[in-house]
Amino acid sequence: MFESIFFKKKILLIIGGGISAYKVLEVIRELKKNGSEIKTILTKSGREFVTPLSISALSQNKVFENLFDPSNESEMDHITLARWCDVLLVAPATANLLSNFADGKASDFATTAILASNKPIFLAPAMNVEMWNKEINLQNVEKLKKNNFRFIGPTIGEMACGEYGEGKMSSVDEIIFTLKNYFISKNQKKKLSALVTAGPTREYIDPVRFLTNESSGKQGLEIAKSLSEIGFQTKLILGPNKLNLKNLSDLDIEHVKTGDEMLNACKENLPVDVAVCTAAVSDFKPKEVFKNKIKKDNLNTFELAFEKNGDILSFISQHNKNRPKLVVGFAAETENYIENAKKKLEHKHCDWIVVNNVKDSSIGFNSEFNEVFIINKNNEIEKLSKSPKSEIAKKLAHKIFEKLHNNVGNFN
Ligand SMILES: Cc1cc2nc3c(=O)[nH]c(=O)nc-3n(C[C@H](O)[C@H](O)[C@H](O)COP(=O)(O)O)c2cc1C
Repeated sequence: MFESIFFKKKILLIIGGGISAYKVLEVIRELKKNGSEIKTILTKSGREFVTPLSISALSQNKVFENLFDPSNESEMDHITLARWCDVLLVAPATANLLSNFADGKASDFATTAILASNKPIFLAPAMNVEMWNKEINLQNVEKLKKNNFRFIGPTIGEMACGEYGEGKMSSVDEIIFTLKNYFISKNQKKKLSALVTAGPTREYIDPVRFLTNESSGKQGLEIAKSLSEIGFQTKLILGPNKLNLKNLSDLDIEHVKTGDEMLNACKENLPVDVAVCTAAVSDFKPKEVFKNKIKKDNLNTFELAFEKNGDILSFISQHNKNRPKLVVGFAAETENYIENAKKKLEHKHCDWIVVNNVKDSSIGFNSEFNEVFIINKNNEIEKLSKSPKSEIAKKLAHKIFEKLHNNVGNFN
């Protein structure tokens, strides 16, 4: 049923001149398979990478290339197309297209249609890492974000030119899930609510020293963003972090430092429809917090006593009055991760556990990537293979929505 979210949705796809244009053929296939209607504009450079024949065969529609082509469907196809569609998707969005859109250019079919558009515009950039990171390009990106252009990626990875870094186009899956979640958000009758915890905590020993861990908060932030994008009223309780929190005006973020502060913030923000506890809350905290900085003079050894911190996941999962309809816990494990996660699911009384193996430094803490297993109470396991944290988040948000929709039936 959820595949049909694309049924009869009209997508205007602009294909730019980049190596990853070939992947866009797969995007067209997926969208068509799920019932959407696609019309395409191919830039002059785009034609060097994919043929109009492949595009029209897959989209089962004419490919628009020349603004002044006498065989166009109407005299002003750039306007007609911009009005016809529900959304515009630009993939690959080249550095050149980003620059032209940011400047408000209307010099060819693609730029004119974008300028004429009054619909949401999704950009999937793809370019070399140096091109992406050029200050002038990043300024264009900021300008476009401020002007409500929505970005899908880019991600980090090996590029066609052999270099490695940020600038790689997001996967076909991430592009499809972004659009799917967007259309879901448009269809929601009743706004659902979500509470997400993220980041590490700091358990203070004295005013300048504390106990913490490696958690970056990236996965939790991406989940909060994805839940918000799919239409949840989302509250993010965020521990100390170095994340870029720019352009997140849709997200209600509360900053906390200690486990106690995080627990209290969660208590104050119940009830919600779903709680997702990704934060790496310290299990223990010092029994005593020294009021002043501990001095080493006269000290050869120093012993600290610890006590258990409040257990946020258990607290939310076992709340008598305000238990969310769905409680999702996260487990970062270094060994026997499936078995340990199953135990955690049982002990904490949550509904799903999302576990990852943090011993592998290419995924988990501080990495841009993750690979997780979602385990439910029936011991069913779903694997989300190694992919950017944003992609994992979009898939998880989608799964959460599906689960709640089945429970509350607020989706048409
Ligand atoms: C082999 C090749 C690969 C290219 N790949 C990219 C790319 O991935 N991203 C990009 O921004 N430009 C890429 N370019 C440069 C663009 O094709 C060029 O800037 C062009 O003017 C873009 O036109 P458009 O934005 O109208 O499609 C590539 C050029 C060549 C020759």
